[in-house]
Amino acid sequence: MRILVTGGAGFIGSNFIRQMLAEHPEHEVLNLDSLTYAGNLENLQGLETEPRYAFVRGDICDQDLLKGLTFDAIIHFAAESHVDRSILDSSPFLQTNITGTKNLLELARARRCRMLHVSTDEVYGSIAEGQFTEMSPLSPNSPYAASKASSDLFARAYHETYGVDVVITRCSNNYGPYQFPEKLIPLMIANALAGKSLPVYGDGKNVRDWIHVADHCRAVALAFHKGRAGEVYNIGGRNEQQNIGIIRMILETISERLGSDREALMGLITYVTDRPGHDRRYAIDPLKTESELGWKPLVGFEEGIASTVDWYLANRAWWGRILSGEYMTYYETQYRQRLGS
Ligand code: NAD
Ligand code: TYD
Repeated sequence: MRILVTGGAGFIGSNFIRQMLAEHPEHEVLNLDSLTYAGNLENLQGLETEPRYAFVRGDICDQDLLKGLTFDAIIHFAAESHVDRSILDSSPFLQTNITGTKNLLELARARRCRMLHVSTDEVYGSIAEGQFTEMSPLSPNSPYAASKASSDLFARAYHETYGVDVVITRCSNNYGPYQFPEKLIPLMIANALAGKSLPVYGDGKNVRDWIHVADHCRAVALAFHKGRAGEVYNIGGRNEQQNIGIIRMILETISERLGSDREALMGLITYVTDRPGHDRRYAIDPLKTESELGWKPLVGFEEGIASTVDWYLANRAWWGRILSGEYMTYYETQYRQRLGS
C-alpha cells in the first residue's frame, strides 16, 4: 500500500514515517509537506535513498497538486500546530487546518480510500475533574483548538454524509526527538542549555497528559490498520503532569548529565504573564484505544524525559540550525545538489 502522509517533515509526521517504514515493509510512504517554518527535511535525513519513501513539496490547499498524486490511503498530520502562534494570527490555521483538511477529505471521497485524521485532545477544551471520552462534547478554547475541532467535525461529516472511510484520533501532548523548540519541553531544554530564562505561563500548575511521540505513532498506525470507519480514538498516556514539575525534571536531568549547578539552573525559571485563554487541565480516557486496538504506551515519563534531554544534548547542531534559521535552506541545498548531480 502506498500511503500519502501529510506533514511528514514535522515533529510527529517524521517520527511516524521512520516508524512506519521500519515496522511495515509492506507499505510505501509518499510524504507531502509544504515545509512551513515547522517543516524540516533534516528530520528525515537518511531516508533519501530508501526506495519505499518519496517526498513531494506541496500545500494541502493546492487542489490541482493533490489531484496529481498517486496513493491508496491518507494519514493526515499536516497542520499549523502551535497555540501561541494561533493567538497572534489565526489565518494560517483556518487555511491549513480547515480548508486543507476539507481538500484531503474530498480527495479521499473521490479515490474511495481510507483517511486517518490526526486530531488532538485540545478539541475537548479544559476539564476540572475526570477525563474526556470520545463521546464528550467538543469545546475548544484557543484558535488552534477551534481550527482542529472544525477539521475533526468535517472528517466526521464526510463519513456521515458521503460514507468516506474516515478514522479520527485525538491525542494528548507529545514530546520526544525532533520537536520544534517552540513547544514547552524542547524550549525549556534549549533555553536551559543556553543559560536563558525559562518562561512559565501563569502559576505553572496547568496540567497536560504527556505521551512519548513513539507511543502516539504506534497508536496512529494501529488505528489506521484496525480502526473502525467513522470512529474516534483517544490516545493518551495516562500521565498527567503540571508544567512546573516537568520543567524541574528537565533541569534535574540536565544538571545530572552535565554536572552543572542545580540551583543556578532552577534560578532560570521565570514566571511570566499567562497565555490568554490558557486551558487549565487536559485529561482524556484512552480506554477505547487500549481495549479495541490492543495499544498501551510503552515509554515511562521519567525515562522518556531523560532520553529526550539526551537526544537534545546529542543533537545540538539540529536545533542550533533551527534557532539560527539555517535549517530553512536545507531543502534548497539538497535540491540544488540533486539537480547538479
Ligand atoms: P508540526 O508543526 O511539528 O508539523 C506540521 C507539519 O505540517 C510541518 O512539517 C509543516 O511544514 C506541515 N504543513 C503545515 N501546513 C501545511 C500545508 N498547508 N500543506 C502541507 N504541509 C503543511 O506539528 P506536529 O506537532 O508534528 O503535529 C502533527 C499533527 O498532530 C497536527 O495535526 C497536530 O494538530 C496533531 N497533534 C499534535 C500534538 C502535539 O503534541 N504536537 C498532539 C496531538 C495532535
Ligand atoms: P505547548 O507545548 O505550547 O502545548 P499546548 O499549549 O498545545 O498544550 O504548552 C504546554 C504547556 O506549557 C501549556 O500549559 C503552556 C505551557 N507553556 C509555558 O508555560 N511556557 C512556554 O514557553 C510554553 C511554550 C508553554
